[in-house]
Amino acid sequence: MTPLNGIRVLDLTHAHAGPLCTLYLAGMGAEVIKIEPLQGEMNRLFPPLIKGQSPYFQFLNRGKKGVTLNLKDPRGIQIFKNLVRLCDVVIENFSPGAMDRLGLGWEELQRLNPRIIYCSISGFGYYGPWRDRKSFDPIAQATSGYSEVAREEINPNGPPVFCPEAIGDTIPGLTAIIGILAALNQRQITNEGQRIDIAQMDAMIATMQSFSFHTFANTTYHGQVSRVNIAGLHHVKDGWVVFSLTAGRIMDSFMAMLGVEEEPTREEVANWCFGKTRDEVVEILNKIGVPVGPVLKLDEVQACDHAKAREMFVKVEHPVLGSFIEPGFPIKSLSWVGDVSGPAPLLGQHNEEVLHNLLGLSRSDVDILLNEGVI
Ligand SMILES: CC(C)(COP(=O)(O)OP(=O)(O)OC[C@H]1O[C@@H](n2cnc3c(N)ncnc32)[C@H](O)[C@@H]1OP(=O)(O)O)[C@@H](O)C(=O)NCCC(=O)NCCS
Repeated sequence: MTPLNGIRVLDLTHAHAGPLCTLYLAGMGAEVIKIEPLQGEMNRLFPPLIKGQSPYFQFLNRGKKGVTLNLKDPRGIQIFKNLVRLCDVVIENFSPGAMDRLGLGWEELQRLNPRIIYCSISGFGYYGPWRDRKSFDPIAQATSGYSEVAREEINPNGPPVFCPEAIGDTIPGLTAIIGILAALNQRQITNEGQRIDIAQMDAMIATMQSFSFHTFANTTYHGQVSRVNIAGLHHVKDGWVVFSLTAGRIMDSFMAMLGVEEEPTREEVANWCFGKTRDEVVEILNKIGVPVGPVLKLDEVQACDHAKAREMFVKVEHPVLGSFIEPGFPIKSLSWVGDVSGPAPLLGQHNEEVLHNLLGLSRSDVDILLNEGVI
């Protein structure tokens, strides 16, 4: 039994932020029905395509059911409304207004199913002067101040810096999960659903400690790689290590190991590292209680015994691609096992399962919908 067993999610999401949210919901056992336009959602075409399949789409949509549904056709809308009655959560990340234009705004969804939890993720939320603006990850990184903080940290004289791992999507996607789980809990008490409005810009701002340094101390955080004591990055014989020498017992034990009375300079720490291998530095510092990590390349992370022991890479069996490795599920529990090893659905793969088995349409009606461009 997994925590979201029995929870059915109607997933209209596309690109990254929304699909990441529903990937985790699926990983915790929810039945996620991904609704796509007939041509598929935009990430199906994100290059490079291998045998017609996008790595980005595969990563984000594992373990979901795939249904094509033309929401610009009244019959498609009717099918969607029938599904809303059978679901617990509806989630979308269109630009604000798209759901209203389809006649599927919050009031309508609530009328169809008072217990429905409706979560939207958008660039700037459903109210505020920027509410109508569209957004992608770099826009969230830019408008939250994140890319300026990264610039100051990495090269104050250079251009703004963008994190390559789409954190402007990931953080809002994870924030949306928290909102949905809270709403599911609240529904147990009220028996009512609710509307959740997640803005990428809000979700980013809310996680940035730099604002507190800025307003409270009129300074910047500077925690990444440039300081010895917080997170010093050091070149060693065969690569890089990063370790933190925070004031107190961690710095004390490093100084005791060096046999010095005063805190070492960056140069002295570099000299200590000089000539040692990455593994040697990691072993010595671990032993004396200094937090240290080797800087690993992706193939090293995959080969790492620790990541293996934590099942952080799983084998996915895909009907077109065969088997390949993807990241595993990061929430570990003694009571249940999260699973993100299912393949992403092919376009419309579960049309019949959902329309026939769940909604009770006859197979010939499903064929007619297919021939007439509704699914
Ligand atoms: C990502 C984004 C920029 C893409 O913009 P876009 O491609 O112009 O798409 P929009 O969201 O504005 O609109 C989607 C359209 O597809 C239509 N559509 C979606 N699903 C459909 C379906 N199953 N059948 C028919 N039409 C469908 C919508 O009705 C809408 O049409 P309309 O504009 O005629 O009303 C925009 O969706 C956005 O800003 N989203 C919020 C922020 C976000 O999550 N960004 C991505 C982070 S990875």
